[in-house]
Amino acid sequence: MDPLKEWLSGQNGGLVLDVATGRGYSASLLAESLKSYKSILGIDISRENLCQSKKASKDNRVLLLGMRAEAMGFANNTFDTVTVINSLHHFQYAKESLEEMKRVLKPNGNFIIFEMVQDGLNEKQKSHRDAHHWWGAVDRLNGVFHRETFRNDELRKMVDMLGLSKVKFINFNEETEIDNKEVIETMEKTIDLYIEKIPINIDRQPLIDEGRKLKERFHEVGFAWATILITIGTK
Ligand SMILES: C[S@@+](CC[C@H](N)C(=O)[O-])C[C@H]1O[C@@H](n2cnc3c(N)ncnc32)[C@H](O)[C@@H]1O
Repeated sequence: MDPLKEWLSGQNGGLVLDVATGRGYSASLLAESLKSYKSILGIDISRENLCQSKKASKDNRVLLLGMRAEAMGFANNTFDTVTVINSLHHFQYAKESLEEMKRVLKPNGNFIIFEMVQDGLNEKQKSHRDAHHWWGAVDRLNGVFHRETFRNDELRKMVDMLGLSKVKFINFNEETEIDNKEVIETMEKTIDLYIEKIPINIDRQPLIDEGRKLKERFHEVGFAWATILITIGTK
């Protein structure tokens, strides 16, 4: 089982803040996995993603707000649990955002980061990483901040600098059916979608070729989800 879900199933979340909640995946994961919670407040800078999330959720204890991770409008020590799931490498100010998360977390509250890493991967996982980095390059050309994923040591260093207590790092390799046909088809569709997104005012061909090579790689080498570094600590 996903070690984050397993850990959440034993936790009373209280007031939960999900930073960069996106289209609803992480808020529903929290709602479904936590033993109990009072409310889950999801913040994000994308109005479009928040609208999608609102449509997806039927739970009236899941609330959404437009706000930047690096400059939150909450008082110190407000939340019992703060989470950032699949998002840290999307932040222009990752370090500042983590500091904000700590600021708004109550003493003894739980601090959770769930983030894929770029190192220590097998060849199939590198297919995921390389595709992810290629999507990031296309996003950046469209003015969307999306850096390459962090290395294990970079993430651990940022966490160390926060000075949390009882920190646990877990490297999680999702047991995908390696070379799962459906996963590969979805990834290929995402590559095609991103090829459409390559701006027309640049020489598009090198990026298109790279996208096509990635699709070939999925078949030749295979595909598996990259390792996730899960961080669980308290303030
Ligand atoms: C890959 S999505 C992840 C969403 C969600 N947590 C999930 O697991 O599905 C990354 C999200 O980060 C958001 N984001 C990027 N920069 C942000 C910032 N500075 N403050 C808040 N949200 C931000 C984006 O709008 C996007 O919704």
